[in-house]
Amino acid sequence: MDLRTEPLLEEIAARIRSCTRCGLAALRTNAVPGEGLQHAPIMLVGEAPGEKEDDTGRPFVGRSGKLLTELLEAEGLKREDLFITSIIKCRPPDNREPTREEVRSCAPHLLMQLDSISPRVLVTMGNSAYELFSNTFYLPNKKVGEVRGKVFRLHSTTTSYLVPTYHPAGLIYNRKLIPDFQNDIRTAIRYSKGTV
Ligand code: URA
Repeated sequence: MDLRTEPLLEEIAARIRSCTRCGLAALRTNAVPGEGLQHAPIMLVGEAPGEKEDDTGRPFVGRSGKLLTELLEAEGLKREDLFITSIIKCRPPDNREPTREEVRSCAPHLLMQLDSISPRVLVTMGNSAYELFSNTFYLPNKKVGEVRGKVFRLHSTTTSYLVPTYHPAGLIYNRKLIPDFQNDIRTAIRYSKGTV
């Protein structure tokens, strides 16, 4: 008897690739479900795919993705050992911010991924990802600059901790924030290993 209740990541990705829940579906070249380990200890969530991601169907492969990959590797993390995605799975035109409606339509995909992976630590990168999860988990309604450096214990899911940090795109324009980002990644690693 199959007692599995959560669909596997590949099943969720197939749903995302055929999703028509919002108007972005008609504009996409490829949906970008995300990639990484089925049972990743850390899940990283950004905002939305850009042009390169839309072209390839892979998350964080453009300029901010290159920086993200470098900064993760500097902390000894390989992308393949994590799960990396965004709150929106299709590229908004001209890389505009996703609308509330688009975020709401896409959120079930992300929450299914979170349930399926059950990472020990969820890292939100940027304001949009923090805002979505702060509403979901009743965390302080603040901007990322005010909450980064903190670790939130989550009581409502199998995911234990949420670590908010900056979006890598912001780090390209403000490199002074990179050490804070790196500290947050180190924090996520520590909590993912239970060495806190
Ligand atoms: N920014 C994001 O938030 N996600 C991507 O996949 C690429 C850039």
